[in-house]
Amino acid sequence: MNAVSQPLTERPAWKALAAHYQAMRNIHLRQLFAGDSGRGKRLAAEAAGIYLDYSKNRITDETIQLLVQLADECRLRDRIDAMFSGDKINVTERRAVLHTALRAPKDEQIFADGVDVVAEVHEVLDRMSVFSQQVRDGQWLGYTGKRIKNVINIGLGGSDLGPVMAYEALHYYSQRDMRFLFVSNVDGTDFVEATRYLNPEETLFIICSKTFTTLETMVNAHAARAWSLRKLGSEEAVSRHFVAVSANPEEVAKFGIGEANQFGFWDWVGGRYSMDSAIGLSTMIAIGPENFRSMLAGFRAMDEHFRTAPFERNLPALMGLLSVWYINFFGVQTMAVLPYEQYLKYFPSYLQQLTMESNGKHITLDGLPVDYHTAPVYWGEPGTNGQHSFYQLLHQGMQLIPCDFIGFCQTLNPVNGQHDLLMANLFAQTEALAFGKTEQEVKTEGTPDWLAPHRSFEGNRPTNTLLVERLTPQTLGALIALYEHSVFTQGVIWHINSFDQWGVELGKVLAQRMIPELESASEPQLNHDSSTNTLIRRYRQFRA
Ligand code: F6P
Repeated sequence: MNAVSQPLTERPAWKALAAHYQAMRNIHLRQLFAGDSGRGKRLAAEAAGIYLDYSKNRITDETIQLLVQLADECRLRDRIDAMFSGDKINVTERRAVLHTALRAPKDEQIFADGVDVVAEVHEVLDRMSVFSQQVRDGQWLGYTGKRIKNVINIGLGGSDLGPVMAYEALHYYSQRDMRFLFVSNVDGTDFVEATRYLNPEETLFIICSKTFTTLETMVNAHAARAWSLRKLGSEEAVSRHFVAVSANPEEVAKFGIGEANQFGFWDWVGGRYSMDSAIGLSTMIAIGPENFRSMLAGFRAMDEHFRTAPFERNLPALMGLLSVWYINFFGVQTMAVLPYEQYLKYFPSYLQQLTMESNGKHITLDGLPVDYHTAPVYWGEPGTNGQHSFYQLLHQGMQLIPCDFIGFCQTLNPVNGQHDLLMANLFAQTEALAFGKTEQEVKTEGTPDWLAPHRSFEGNRPTNTLLVERLTPQTLGALIALYEHSVFTQGVIWHINSFDQWGVELGKVLAQRMIPELESASEPQLNHDSSTNTLIRRYRQFRA
């Protein structure tokens, strides 16, 4: 454990930010823009193909200067160096945090426990490439000699959300004569519906699990095996229809998947940071090894930027620090991510695990409870759908909800100028949220006095706009790395461990205890609270 460090709320920059907030809280974005014609251009930064306009935030140059001072006081630069060089910064699990090594170039050397991890990463990448190409080309055949047409990824959390998000995000680049499905839920419906119309002879399962002990994944993996073997008849078929991605080869072997069908990764890759490891095998089969490698190049470009750029121009640092500004000084409790790109429809749910499993913590690295807020709730939907459901609350609700808008200058699917319509909506929303419409303006337009309060918009609602030229494997990689490092920045300021997830354990343990109580033929002795006991009894009574 680290030595106890100065509490965050006692740091000079924190105190200065608290005072600065008092000066800023009633200043409207209208004033900030009116008094500064260069603001929209100046408060912007660009890296790895991503342009970030952060001018529509409730900040001044002084805010940024103080936030950067806070980052310096929290030793963000040292923490970045510690992460990139393989220090065991995941102190509660005593692990290095090296997802950045997953995209390091072949000639780089990064050591964890004395082993050059980059060499291992590239060895696995090369094996993945060969296998993916074989499946894509139809050289890898099923047990009965049929071509593989369906790939089903079985996994959960980071072993599912990354693969499904990346597959959908890069669907444009995917091999169209193959079908990719993702089964995660222990609810049997997920598996049954995914496989309903598929032929086991043409179906390959990728069992993705870092631990290879996750209950849901193992249950689905066994269901998949039974489903395959029912049709294929022989245990020998497993080697043509099952591959595993895991950091636990012993457990994989117990399941019956041989070494040749295993793709490894390492304990220094956190589940929610693993989509660019072998966990991305389904992505690689879908988009091909070359595209996968350009996705890694995008990650790498953002890594380099994060590692080297001054915080004033550093996209992940700026985004992380702006989140801290809103969460800790404005009392913000939720943040929205709004991609104006249909292919990014799963990006918000991917970010939910990345942000909330990483920073939804209340104990510091020193083992003490925090006295400030940490991760907010992240949520979102692709535009323009959200506009016709929850944007009402963003514009006129009682909560301040900072939003990230994500848009692309070029569409992958040009249809009758629809892309301009989409982007007009994005720009219009950020303008409306920032500047609103006063009652006076509404009345001047002819709205009667009684209706004017309903039709006016307070504005002053902050947004970031991320503008990217085109959605490609490379820009997707950069976008994901941007959020990874923004999450890291926040975790450093809050002095928490962004890389463990103890909060998921209790529910798992209690469920294990309950399984026999639900399964047993005779009435079980129940020792829970009266609510849980009653629910279990009622479930047992009516489940038949
Ligand atoms: O839910 C907790 C968790 O450990 C996540 O962090 C992880 O992504 C998920 O479960 C799946 O774990 P595994 O890849 O070991 O099956």
